[in-house]
Amino acid sequence: MLPARGNSPTVEGGCGSIGNPTASEGAGLMTNATKQKAHISFVLNGEPAEVAFAPHKTLLEVLREDLALTGTKHGCELGECGTCTVLVDGRSILSCLMLGVDAEGRDVETIEGMAEGAALHPLQETFADTGAAQCGYCSPGFMLAAKELIQKSPKPSREEIKEALSGNLCRCTGYIKIYEAVELAAAKMRGEPMELPRESVFGLE
Ligand code: FES
Ligand code: FES
Repeated sequence: MLPARGNSPTVEGGCGSIGNPTASEGAGLMTNATKQKAHISFVLNGEPAEVAFAPHKTLLEVLREDLALTGTKHGCELGECGTCTVLVDGRSILSCLMLGVDAEGRDVETIEGMAEGAALHPLQETFADTGAAQCGYCSPGFMLAAKELIQKSPKPSREEIKEALSGNLCRCTGYIKIYEAVELAAAKMRGEPMELPRESVFGLE
């Protein structure tokens, strides 16, 4: 889990009494405890953002439930499928394993922040063009992990791509189209022409 950085998140609300509560007081404490809210300020998809949420929530839950950014997908919640991947300070992380309060002061990017206005990111274009997004459930996580890779390594080898995306699972594509989409996007971003193998576009004849 990433260490918290910047200002500490605040927790609003509270119990108001300590000691040995009676049963009814205890019930009241529990009710009040559930009303406590954490409050964080951070940068979300390039814009300053603030959000209040139940302090136990993961970043995945805060994004989806409190910020209505449902492009980040909910999968195993165990750190095994990669479908919840987002970028935090430019690094891909599993948002199901990071507490929302640890996003305080950080720069968070989700799939909703990849396009620039009406212009899709090259990865979004090539995932669509190559058939790398089929049901699409895994695609946001793959694209954000690939974005980090291309930023670090503008001309990644197939092995580098496999390694960088090894934490993301896809049950539809067989992965080859995803690797090709990343290669094609990287080439586009370098300003180089690249053609996909004919069978990738039309299938085996
Ligand atoms: S939902 Fe986070 S790794 Fe599966
Ligand atoms: S496209 Fe369906 S899980 Fe990857």
